[in-house]
Amino acid sequence: MRRLFPVTDETAARALDGARGAGGASAPGAAGALEDREWTLAELAAAYAYPERGPAGREPWLRANMVATLDGAAQHEGRSQPISSAADMRIFGTLRALADVVVVGAETVRQEGYRPARARAEFAALREAAGQGPAPAIAVVTASLELDFSLPLFASPLVPTLILTGAAAAPDRTAAAEKAGARVVIAGDGIGIDPARAVQALAELGHTRLLTEGGPRLLGQLVASGVLDELCLTVSPMLTAGNAQRITGGPTITVPQRFTLASLLEEEGFLFSRYRRE
Ligand SMILES: NC(=O)c1ccc[n+]([C@@H]2O[C@H](COP(=O)([O-])OP(=O)(O)OC[C@H]3O[C@@H](n4cnc5c(N)ncnc54)[C@H](OP(=O)(O)O)[C@@H]3O)[C@@H](O)[C@H]2O)c1
Repeated sequence: MRRLFPVTDETAARALDGARGAGGASAPGAAGALEDREWTLAELAAAYAYPERGPAGREPWLRANMVATLDGAAQHEGRSQPISSAADMRIFGTLRALADVVVVGAETVRQEGYRPARARAEFAALREAAGQGPAPAIAVVTASLELDFSLPLFASPLVPTLILTGAAAAPDRTAAAEKAGARVVIAGDGIGIDPARAVQALAELGHTRLLTEGGPRLLGQLVASGVLDELCLTVSPMLTAGNAQRITGGPTITVPQRFTLASLLEEEGFLFSRYRRE
């Protein structure tokens, strides 16, 4: 077994010595990466940059960002905040700042009280250089459209919120969504969406840097339909027992999908992992 990404004090110190011995102290990638200090938002953004896919990066890349406890709970008392941390929220904000669109299940919107994504001054230049608007759009996946369209998420976002639903969605609800200012995108023939169609529909709207924040029922479908390219998983150093959801739900897939560790950061016992599909 190999320790691929040294994160303990002991191994980090040893690796730093090694890097210095090899003349690596002046190389920011060698010593800088192991130093225990708060990373700037620019450094985090560089570390989590989306890969360029297809001609001029026009192929969509779907990344998920989730947090789970040591015993696999994806929420505590219905929210993810109690199992998160300040560093987790910095990465959460950075991943949003890199994305064209944030895809989220309607239950997470309802339970977590989603608001529109903010335009953050720290990321303004980065977004402009990437040809992005000031903030990512939020795309809510829903079959029922049982959402309060008077909320700021729908009524006053910086960029119109998208509703991803099926062709059989109730016309009065889609009309209410559109009246509030949301844009309804049909991505399925029935009442729900087909995940692959949703990814394609977003790409056709020019959204290729996709981020999903779950929840578990939506993420399970994205995994099962083979459209998830990357998982940014925060392992929270907590145990909650009980019967909380895992980060994915739904039926088990036939063959487990293999992902490869791309990077691993640590702060205060929280592990920030990034896995990519093999
Ligand atoms: N740990 C984490 O990182 C994390 C992240 C996110 C959420 N959470 C937690 O997860 C919980 C909520 O997650 P959840 O799994 O119950 O719900 P969810 O995945 O957020 O949302 C489920 C809802 O999404 C809609 N939906 C799902 N698949 C659909 C499809 N194929 N077509 C159309 N609509 C579809 C449906 O909305 P309608 O009912 O409107 O039809 C469904 O009820 C909360 O407790 C939240 O705190 C944790």
